[in-house]
Amino acid sequence: MNIVVFTSEWNIKHAMAARLSLLLTLTIIILINSVGGLENGKIKITVGTTAGCSDTVNFITNQLLPTYRKYERFLEIEFVAWGRTRRENGVFTFCQFNAMNCWVNRMHRCSLDMMKGNQTRQLEFMSCEFSPPLPVILRESYDCAISSGLNVVDVDFCLNNPHLDSLDDVAQEAAAEPVSAINFIPYIIINDNTDVNVHNQALRRLSSVICFLLAEDPASGVTECQI
Ligand SMILES: *[C@@H]1O[C@H](CO)[C@@H](O)[C@H](O)[C@H]1NC(C)=O
Repeated sequence: MNIVVFTSEWNIKHAMAARLSLLLTLTIIILINSVGGLENGKIKITVGTTAGCSDTVNFITNQLLPTYRKYERFLEIEFVAWGRTRRENGVFTFCQFNAMNCWVNRMHRCSLDMMKGNQTRQLEFMSCEFSPPLPVILRESYDCAISSGLNVVDVDFCLNNPHLDSLDDVAQEAAAEPVSAINFIPYIIINDNTDVNVHNQALRRLSSVICFLLAEDPASGVTECQI
């Protein structure tokens, strides 16, 4: 008797799980139509990050890295290391958590800029920065910049001379719309379409979202996608 009850409960749970994943699959497929497919064989993923943010740590570690390992050749990754920073007349007027947050984000912008053209290197750097014990934000260290092969003197010079480049202007402009529309850090944008529903799915199951997007294009050779 106990076994029968156990079995039927298991079946119900199983059926519910199947229905849930079918629902999610449909949700993702419908969303994907609004995002569009591959552009020049690539899917662009833009990630708005901020230093010291545990949601950014989780996303980079548990979603972005595994997805990148699987689909690297199809992906164009762009980081906007700005968070919710506000800035007026070249001065930071709001930093999340503490003032250091703005400067660590600036350090990320400098470092990413120095590595532009090699997104694997950028991703490895960001993954290092957003791994425990969050090197820069907590220890004010350049460990990740060093392990990424950057010249620390150059990084430091960039960090302290924001007036000499347009990195802050570019990031501020890029973050404005997604921060107001999605209102979550990290925010995720696929193919430059800011969409809170796509963001919500990508945040939780990026690999599935990318898989379903790739499966829409027979040329990708990707067929079996799971939730
Ligand atoms: C890009 O960076 C990776 C990781 O740091 C490195 O292994 C690779 O050789 C670099 N690629 C180019 C083209 O420089």
